[in-house]
Amino acid sequence: TRTLDLAIIGGDGIGPEVTAEALKVLRVAVAGDATVTETAYPLGAEHYLATGEILDEATLEALAQHDAILFGAVGGDPRDPRLAGGIIERGLLLKLRFAFDHYVNLRPTFLAPGIASPLADPGSVDFVVVREGTEGPYVGNGGRFRQGTPHEVATEVSINTAFGIERVVRFAFAQAAARRQKLTLVHKTNVLVHAGALWQSVVDRVAPEFASVTVDYLHVDAATIFLATDPSRFDVIVTDNLFGDILTDLAAAIGGGIGLAASGNLNPDGAFPSMVEPVHGSAPDIAGQQKADPTAAILSAAILLDQQALPDAAARIRAAVLADLAERGSAPRRTSEVGDAIAARLR
Ligand code: NAD
Ligand code: IPM
Ligand code: MN
Repeated sequence: TRTLDLAIIGGDGIGPEVTAEALKVLRVAVAGDATVTETAYPLGAEHYLATGEILDEATLEALAQHDAILFGAVGGDPRDPRLAGGIIERGLLLKLRFAFDHYVNLRPTFLAPGIASPLADPGSVDFVVVREGTEGPYVGNGGRFRQGTPHEVATEVSINTAFGIERVVRFAFAQAAARRQKLTLVHKTNVLVHAGALWQSVVDRVAPEFASVTVDYLHVDAATIFLATDPSRFDVIVTDNLFGDILTDLAAAIGGGIGLAASGNLNPDGAFPSMVEPVHGSAPDIAGQQKADPTAAILSAAILLDQQALPDAAARIRAAVLADLAERGSAPRRTSEVGDAIAARLR
């Protein structure tokens, strides 16, 4: 059997709690298919406050050696001035996405049988957002000028390259071709005219290569309407880094809640390890109480296994999660109870 060499970054808040459950389930799911080795990396806001390290070069180098990374969530006390300016989010999470060229941020949404939707008439909800992961307004390009004066100016420059857009657009087309043949580009071409025109032109240029796929376009504001009123119209959405961030929290709500929303930061070329994580954050409001739903982390582990060419193990996890969702009811369960229940279905 093959080996699967994982780096584990639990992070802060509920991150370590949900990651423990994802690992618990992953270990059972791959038993027989792969031998798993796990190396834990104590990174995050807490680690930074204790040691001064956000993400050293040596740690980055060590992480690069693994097959894949299982990530929980990071983010400490928002009122702590030592963590101001998103230094952990930028210096750790975004640093990893950029350094490991995670140009695809894959975020699937589905409404499972048994799960209540906040929408009165959701119809069939089954779509994926392919969020660009290495460009856009996330690159940190910009600055504050004339700081402290009444004439202060702040800029946040979005970077969009033809190369960066084309690779994520191609991935999205391939996803659509393997699903229901529909791709929706979401942008704001009526206002963000420079970046919008580039995204549209790349989609138009690639489209003929995927003749079976119908291409659609929505402005991001209108996309939020249709996500809430008619989500079944969506199959694959491709969009930039920031629009994708916002739309996928909305998508999570549509799919039954943020505790169910999984994601994969993928380097499809395989030059660097991919990293999966729940869409949610460290949830300081419920941290340390075993209240978090680990399902998003568990489904993220399934994305990792798909990406690592272990599709049978991934499918087993999804089937166990679906069975758990169908019978879950409304009685609250502890984080570890959910993990135990899903792992038990795999045995
Ligand atoms: P959040 O996702 O942490 O929490 C939003 C709300 O959802 C909270 O009420 C929380 O209790 C709830 N929630 C989140 N995950 C849940 C789960 N698994 N089960 C049940 N309820 C859950 O978002 P936030 O409050 O905006 O951010 C908190 C911190 O997390 C910030 O520091 C932020 O920067 C960071 N963050 C990190 C990541 C990441 O590491 N990938 C993602 C988003 C936010
Ligand atoms: C997410 C998070 C991150 C993002 C933050 C914490 C940097 O919100 O993974 O969705 O904006 O990408
Ligand atoms: Mn987000």
